[in-house]
Amino acid sequence: MHDAEAQALAKTWFYPFQLPSGGTTPTYGTGELDPIHHTRSAMLESALQAEFGAERRALSAVDLACHQGWFSAQLAQSGFGRVIGVDARPEHIADAGLIRDALRLPQIELVEADVHGLDTARLGTHDLVLCFGLIYHLENPVGALRVARALTKRLCIVETQVVPGLTGWVDYGSYRFVRPLKGSFGIIDETGETHGPEASTTGICLVPSVEALVWIMDRIGFKRVEVLPVPEDGYEQLVHRKRVMVAGWV
Ligand SMILES: C[S@@+](CC[C@H](N)C(=O)[O-])C[C@H]1O[C@@H](n2cnc3c(N)ncnc32)[C@H](O)[C@@H]1O
Repeated sequence: MHDAEAQALAKTWFYPFQLPSGGTTPTYGTGELDPIHHTRSAMLESALQAEFGAERRALSAVDLACHQGWFSAQLAQSGFGRVIGVDARPEHIADAGLIRDALRLPQIELVEADVHGLDTARLGTHDLVLCFGLIYHLENPVGALRVARALTKRLCIVETQVVPGLTGWVDYGSYRFVRPLKGSFGIIDETGETHGPEASTTGICLVPSVEALVWIMDRIGFKRVEVLPVPEDGYEQLVHRKRVMVAGWV
């Protein structure tokens, strides 16, 4: 067995990576989180098939908040010629490097960076940008979405937890200046969990409603924005619209 594979099998992961020797990396707990990853992978592949078809060698992608590289690996295995995974946590970048070696996917590059500090001009634009599981851990989700938009040549897919939205009208300084609400944000406190591998790095989290997310993506320059369909047997959070996957086309 390849050395990187043996190292990968010796630790517990957030994701159930299938290794070339046939083994699967052990995951947290009893694997209860595995279905969320498999549902999101299936939804992603449907969107990629519809947009890019099967021939993907000429395509490049950025995977923002790549964690241990689950979606970066999926993109590389599905044929993308270049995949750049970005994450703020050095331990995730190290794990993503180990998985890249274990899966023998040299087309994956890894960058340790906070999404807000990314040099988008230097990184350039890419056919696909993923922003999965990130914006609801941020105090500046709109800023992160602007970064995602700046990196997108063709398609950006955002996946996030959402909160129920308020609708209605607001007296904006006076009853004579009334404005419609376009969506809402909920505030979630992760200040006690910033050490957690999946958590926010600052602890103050603004979680959008789906209406807010769609409206903001439209405002920051995506020409078409669509909430992607969920398989009926998918992970309950996605089926019941507690999480959503939203695609934006440039
Ligand atoms: C819930 S995990 C999601 C990982 C993966 N994208 C997924 O959907 O399975 C959140 C990830 O965001 C990363 N993260 C949190 N704040 C970040 C920031 N400001 N910039 C870049 N990555 C960040 C964390 O290190 C972690 O890998």
